[in-house]
Amino acid sequence: MYEILRREKWQDVLYSMWLKAPHIARAAQPGQFVILMTDEKGERIPLTIADIDREEGWIQIVFQIVGKTTTKLAQMNEGDELYAFVGPLGKPSEIDKYGTVVTIGGGTGIACVYPITKALKEAGNRVITIIGARTKDLIIMEDEMRKASTELLVTTDDGSYVRKGFVTDVLDEVLQREKNVRKVWAVGPAIMMKVICDVTKPYNVETIACLNAVMVDGTGMCGSCRVTVDGETKLTCVDGPEFNGHLVDWPEFLNRLLKYDQQEKQSLEIYNESLEAEG
Ligand code: NAD
Ligand code: FES
Repeated sequence: MYEILRREKWQDVLYSMWLKAPHIARAAQPGQFVILMTDEKGERIPLTIADIDREEGWIQIVFQIVGKTTTKLAQMNEGDELYAFVGPLGKPSEIDKYGTVVTIGGGTGIACVYPITKALKEAGNRVITIIGARTKDLIIMEDEMRKASTELLVTTDDGSYVRKGFVTDVLDEVLQREKNVRKVWAVGPAIMMKVICDVTKPYNVETIACLNAVMVDGTGMCGSCRVTVDGETKLTCVDGPEFNGHLVDWPEFLNRLLKYDQQEKQSLEIYNESLEAEG
């Protein structure tokens, strides 16, 4: 069983958990994800690994309450056990010595870009990291990111912390300033990753997007996570989750994400009503 070793509420709907999973911690690489089930009847949800301790045998996840399963997960406490926990899944990030690279985390995506950033710096790269959130309180893991990067740039949509603007505004300035950026990693909302690709394209800088597709089995069997990359159908769970963002069919990807919005909302409403009925 997979015990919740530590649980922290970071914001209204933002949580972090440290889960005991020695075999996953031993094998996991930056960029990979896990799929978990809170209970036997629950759905399977994919979550990117935010941190790993191989010796202590835990992995850290960071999640936002967006539907029924994340609501249930947030209600679990330290000492509780998850029903199922599978991983590590997906292909690891391609960590190499490139020179100067930029990593970007938007919102909860900051947690997911952290292990990639750390690994790139350890591999000898000069890593410029950009993190952004809607407002000051939603900037997470700032200290960890500062340690993991060569230079950390922070921005908020509303200007409540450091500076005002999207991560893409900061990225444009970095690309104007730095003439030798070799590669960019983007993790966050799909629209952010799409706009990042629009920004890097004229500079001809390879850009890796970590696609948060809708997943069911996570093993390449159901097809729900399919995405078109360079005209070919790929499965995010086994061929990704990282892809060359300049080759992703973004309009199709954004549409597919919206497809399940209504069902997700309905499922959450039914769950909340059942909780109210239980008193
Ligand atoms: P958010 O909507 O608050 O956006 C975070 C940041 O992204 C913003 O502060 C801004 O800097 C940037 N951004 C947003 N819209 C933009 C636009 N149109 N143009 C340029 N930049 C833009 O993020 P949130 O509420 O924390 O949501 C997190 C999202 O990230 C969820 O959709 C979740 O699915 C996704 N996510 C993805 C991954 C992944 O692996 N790709 C991992 C974790 C979370
Ligand atoms: Fe089913 Fe990827 S989640 S094929």
